Amino acid sequence: MNKNLKRIAHNAVIESGYNAEKIYDTALKFQQLMMIYDGAAKQITTKLEILNKEFNVRGKRSPIESIKSRIKSPESIALKLDRHGLPMSLENMTLSLNDVAGVRVICPYVADIYDVRDMFLSQADIRLIEEKDYIAEPKPSGYRSLHIVVETDVYLSECVCPVRVEVQLRTIAMDFWSSLEHKMRYKTEKDVPQSIRDELRQCADRIAQNDLDMQSIAQRLQLCSV
Ligand code: GTP
Ligand code: MG
Repeated sequence: MNKNLKRIAHNAVIESGYNAEKIYDTALKFQQLMMIYDGAAKQITTKLEILNKEFNVRGKRSPIESIKSRIKSPESIALKLDRHGLPMSLENMTLSLNDVAGVRVICPYVADIYDVRDMFLSQADIRLIEEKDYIAEPKPSGYRSLHIVVETDVYLSECVCPVRVEVQLRTIAMDFWSSLEHKMRYKTEKDVPQSIRDELRQCADRIAQNDLDMQSIAQRLQLCSV
């Protein structure tokens, strides 16, 4: 177990007053909450799949290449709360983290990202909470994607739970860069030399130019609307 995780788990046990029943009860509630987050991610994925299918049925090009979804692991939740200086608790998780449930949408072209965003957000049962456009303003690392946090209702037998889901929209090219860079650098403890950071940023910039060039070709072939 990672040293930080050991400390966080230890603090949580102290917080519970070494009460085994309380710890068991929290674990059970955590499991229920994760089931609800999973339900929310599934609802969002289904909505996006329906939009994509509609294009296929109408004989149009798919604006979505693929969709992936994931629920944050308990370890990542604990470490992220700790990075934010918050003790590990179900309340802190639900109130402070927007990305416990995450959906990643990969689109062929840059314009598709904004088309999918608009179609998705126009749905009455989807509420926009936050939007970060790292395509218009890439991160210093070179990272590009459109991030939206939405809220959707998950219906249980006795209540309705509003749940936040982070949706990351990016092109195939942006996904290529961020998948590889994530493994090489992002969140690694190791120090990456500035020269390597610069090279990764330059790769991201070249990839972004290729994205625009491919889109321009698609437009000329009348495959792409914008
Ligand atoms: P995290 O603690 O990293 O989740 O940050 P945050 O919640 O403040 O949100 P942010 O808008 O920075 O987006 C975080 C997510 O975007 C990460 O979990 C990654 O999936 C992705 N991301 C952000 N920056 C980078 C980056 O420089 N490289 C890569 N590969 N992915 C990134
Ligand atoms: Mg995140």
